[in-house]
Amino acid sequence: HLQDHEHYMLKEIMEQPKAIKRTLDGRLTSEGVILPELDAFFAELDVHRIRKIDIVGSGTSYHSGIIGKKLLDTMLDIPVEVSISSEFSCEHGSLGPGNLVIVLSQSGETADTLSALKEAKRCGCPTIAITNNKRRNIARKADYTLFTSAGPELAVAATKAYTSQISALMLLAIALTEKTNGPGMALIPDLLNALHQLPEDIEKSLIMTQDAIDQFAQVTNDQDHLFLIGRGLDYVLALEGALKLQEVAYLHADAYAAGEMKHGTMALITPGVPVIALATQEKLREKTISNIRELKARDAFVVGITTTGDSDVSDVVDEVLYIPEAHPFLMPILAAIPLQLLAYYAGTVRGYDVDRPRNLAKSLTVE
Ligand code: M6R
Repeated sequence: HLQDHEHYMLKEIMEQPKAIKRTLDGRLTSEGVILPELDAFFAELDVHRIRKIDIVGSGTSYHSGIIGKKLLDTMLDIPVEVSISSEFSCEHGSLGPGNLVIVLSQSGETADTLSALKEAKRCGCPTIAITNNKRRNIARKADYTLFTSAGPELAVAATKAYTSQISALMLLAIALTEKTNGPGMALIPDLLNALHQLPEDIEKSLIMTQDAIDQFAQVTNDQDHLFLIGRGLDYVLALEGALKLQEVAYLHADAYAAGEMKHGTMALITPGVPVIALATQEKLREKTISNIRELKARDAFVVGITTTGDSDVSDVVDEVLYIPEAHPFLMPILAAIPLQLLAYYAGTVRGYDVDRPRNLAKSLTVE
């Protein structure tokens, strides 16, 4: 039911506080996380024997996977690799029972991801699927499943799928850290607090950015190119923002690690070209600001996305959008909100069918 919204995409963007609350409900306590769905996994598998973790997904699910990798890299003492589903293989005999494979899929039907899951099983790897649909192939075929409980997502663009997958990955990361007594143990109390606060923070991010991003979308209407830059988690978020803009607004949007622009792409910067600079990670902000200055020296039109109260970014950009400050690992969720809204408004202002973009399908059942 669309109720108050003209499109499913906007409805699903707006639903994110509730969707994330559902994903976290009953799984988050003040001391830790409870994941009854994974009781069998922890009972049957000696987590101390996991040699490596592989995360696999396509499109937006691949982007959530990169965030998951960065999180697990910090929390665990186990190497983590992330692969695009269609590129995943254990051809060189490198994967086996010591490799935990985590597959991410909203629909639970994506052929590339299903095929990666089968490949992982063929090589004897234990598998966990993080998915939003209990009855689909991926949930049935994985050894263990963790559900995202985001509710049905009908627009082709993945929005609440992305934020709920990252939330579920947080829960899994905390559980794995506790079981393996990983180096991230000391970070757990702060992460738990931040997760309790997350649905409210998402609501605030929606309120704080919706009108300004609608106006910026009108400005992009006559543009053919847009760049997104960021460092660390902000770079991963830039990849997701670019995918949304390509998919829904048919805009040529490209994401770059902020420090990379000067190694080639800077040649594409002409006066007025729109750039979204993500600067949500406090520790990386200073360097991002120096990259923004390089763009401003070439007269790019820079919109900065940073946390409330930061004046260093607002001083160097043309427009600034503030989002609530939260744990660094949750910033890719809070900053995804204005990027999803930008894709939505940029698509509607161009008159496109944002719920059913051309050449795409919600469930991709061919490889
Ligand atoms: O259902 P899945 O999560 O397996 O789908 C994977 C991708 O096809 C999907 O995320 C796609 O990239 C989205 N339409 C992007 O918004």
